[in-house]
Amino acid sequence: MKTPTICQLLLEDKTANNITVQGWVRSFRSNRFIALNDGSTGQNLQCVVEFEQYDPALLKKISVGAAVKLTGDITESEGAGQKYELKVSEITVYGTSDPETYPIQPKKHSLEFLREKAHLRVRTNTFSAVMRLRSRLAYAVHHYFTTQSFYYVHTPIITGSDAEGAGEMFRVTTLAPQNPPLNEEGKVNYKEDFFGKETNLTVSGQLEAETYAMALGKVYTFGPTFRAENSNTSRHLAEFWMIEPEVAFNDLWDNMDLAEDFIKYVINDALTHCKEDLIFLESRLLEEEKTKPQADRSELSLIEKLKFVTENKFIRLSYTEAVEILMQSTPNKKKKFQYPIEGWGVDLQSEHERYLVEKHFKCPVVLYDYPAEIKAFYMRLNEDQKTVRAMDILFPGIGEIVGGSQREERLDVLEQRMEALGIDPKELWWYLDLRKFGTAPHAGFGLGFERLVLFVTGMTNIRDVIPFPRTPQNAEF
Ligand code: 4AD
Ligand code: MG
Repeated sequence: MKTPTICQLLLEDKTANNITVQGWVRSFRSNRFIALNDGSTGQNLQCVVEFEQYDPALLKKISVGAAVKLTGDITESEGAGQKYELKVSEITVYGTSDPETYPIQPKKHSLEFLREKAHLRVRTNTFSAVMRLRSRLAYAVHHYFTTQSFYYVHTPIITGSDAEGAGEMFRVTTLAPQNPPLNEEGKVNYKEDFFGKETNLTVSGQLEAETYAMALGKVYTFGPTFRAENSNTSRHLAEFWMIEPEVAFNDLWDNMDLAEDFIKYVINDALTHCKEDLIFLESRLLEEEKTKPQADRSELSLIEKLKFVTENKFIRLSYTEAVEILMQSTPNKKKKFQYPIEGWGVDLQSEHERYLVEKHFKCPVVLYDYPAEIKAFYMRLNEDQKTVRAMDILFPGIGEIVGGSQREERLDVLEQRMEALGIDPKELWWYLDLRKFGTAPHAGFGLGFERLVLFVTGMTNIRDVIPFPRTPQNAEF
């Protein structure tokens, strides 16, 4: 049966006869007013039931969480709070919902409580708004790249190379864990495994995307990636989605331009197409901020913050300049950083990144030209022989949202870097082939999709912007 969604009905903005809607009951007041939600919008449709006309046994079945079909006329509402309402003439209850045991009651639940109910939490205003935004942002990602003439590449989820160095990997195997076949050295014989070698879940689609950039020119991947790091933070997931464009003939500056333009585009798209959900999330955040001490409250509202990012140029500065600023910073001098900045060459921790973005510049920051030692083997070595053409984009409240680089296209330099880092060239023979056959400058980056969704929705924990988060000790659902 084709029925309009509540979103469509409200957009039509007019009265209508004999309309059927289907959804879930958000509340049922005075045996008369059903607030119906079908997920198409954050707004509920007020449905008015003349209870005298119905069997009390039927009405008893209507409680919070029940799935119903309601038919009637859309009329102008007599009550305050909504323009239209449905005068119900026919009720079908698809499924009841026991009010004693249904966890999602029309009251405020903590996000921690809702995480335990991840299969039901999307029935709340907050999570439905977040997930509608997530969906729109994913669409905007594809739209952006498609209109910029990029091709979408599906890089493998199961990978045979473990040399990417982006993090700990999850092994993929069909061998019996209790008694796997052993080789002569007494080690597990992966030759007998499904793929005849050790395989893992991918940590990034970059290396494979590079092969496609060297033929299709402008490509991107957008898929799940997996990291078995034991990072129990509000910014890390073991399974997350990453967007990785890779462009032939781009240098580091083109790469920064692309990243900045791309981020601004998708945020603008959300501002245009998800206004209602953003207004709701903004008010949610405002409430949450009220519980914090004044000093920790954000100066900008959610929508102001998003507009600030789309309307201002990101600050660009080298790692060396950033270290200078950090060395001279008050928290460093007063030994307030957990990891004090003692000199050039140290890896920046999120406390340092956040200081730069939130306190010093108060603006997104692109850091580039990092020390070679703290970055991956594939990043292009600079003439100083000390730094590589890396760039990270740091966002307020998030820290690193993008990591990327111009890639090392010179075979001899790449081989030296791999040797220095103990990466077996035999493992990545196909990657080295790219440098043997028509090598060219190229660059790309990875944007963590959940970190983007975090930023846009104003949520504070990454577990709340993906339907079923995977984190250490947590893979329920
Ligand atoms: O900086 P990373 O590790 O870069 C790469 O993987 C490169 N291969 C990307 C490329 O150049 N094509 O990760 C990229 C981004 C980070 O900036 C961050 O936003 C996100 O991925 N990210 C995570 N997001 C959630 N949970 C985690 N555990 C993440 N690790 C990285
Ligand atoms: Mg990184």
